[in-house]
Amino acid sequence: MGETILKFVNIDKVFSSEGIDFEALKKINLEIHKGEFIGLSGKSGSGKTTLLNVAGLIDPPTKGDLFIRNINTKNISDNELSLIRAKEIGFIFQTFNLLPLLSALENVEYPLMLLNIPEAERIERARVALKKVGLENFTHHRPSQLSGGQRQRVAFARAIVKEPTLILADEPTANLDTKTSDEVFELLVRLQQDMKVTVMLCSHDNDLISRTQRIIKITDGMIAEEIRK
Ligand SMILES: Nc1ncnc2c1ncn2[C@@H]1O[C@H](COP(=O)(O)OP(=O)(O)O)[C@@H](O)[C@H]1O
Ligand SMILES: [Mg+2]
Repeated sequence: MGETILKFVNIDKVFSSEGIDFEALKKINLEIHKGEFIGLSGKSGSGKTTLLNVAGLIDPPTKGDLFIRNINTKNISDNELSLIRAKEIGFIFQTFNLLPLLSALENVEYPLMLLNIPEAERIERARVALKKVGLENFTHHRPSQLSGGQRQRVAFARAIVKEPTLILADEPTANLDTKTSDEVFELLVRLQQDMKVTVMLCSHDNDLISRTQRIIKITDGMIAEEIRK
């Protein structure tokens, strides 16, 4: 098994609003290794997005420890966490989250701007990433000029362009028809294999989840079952 890149130790996540606490994650213990393709399944409201947001260093745990490699995230500053996120973690969302006024190429370049990479290199890398997702002829199209499947491919290119260690995909196919959903999922499988990147995919679609290597079922904020293939 590859090196451990993320480790959850007794993690709880509590959301508080108007004096009422809601435990969205309860005692999560989970170790994620380099190169794994993990499928998180669970009903709507079970805590999948919350778990991905903790893994993505977006939302800190309420209790417990999150280690990135061997570093306890409690011991590093918000700035350092942001930098790790910018360099190493690619996010893919259900609603694509592309910037509407930017072209496909500019959307893919964007994460590299945050890393202060020079323009010529940014453009070259964005072109390569768009080619990997089969969109080399759509570089100047804006999101509104692309189909749902093409938009999600742009979002994939944006996630892989920085050559991340970890890709977090939150219901990436939920807004696509069955055929497109299948194609986009297969693309993710291919990218994962080619780039040896670690992927955590969450979906309520058990058909897709059953095609991942390590299935983690979430029920009421807890890991209810785990299946390795
Ligand atoms: N920011 C928040 N404030 C309060 N409750 C939240 C917040 N985010 C999520 N929750 C609650 O936590 C539970 C898990 O949500 P979520 O992780 O989005 O589930 P899933 O992605 O599996 O549908 C839900 O009951 C949801 O209402
Ligand atoms: Mg969700």
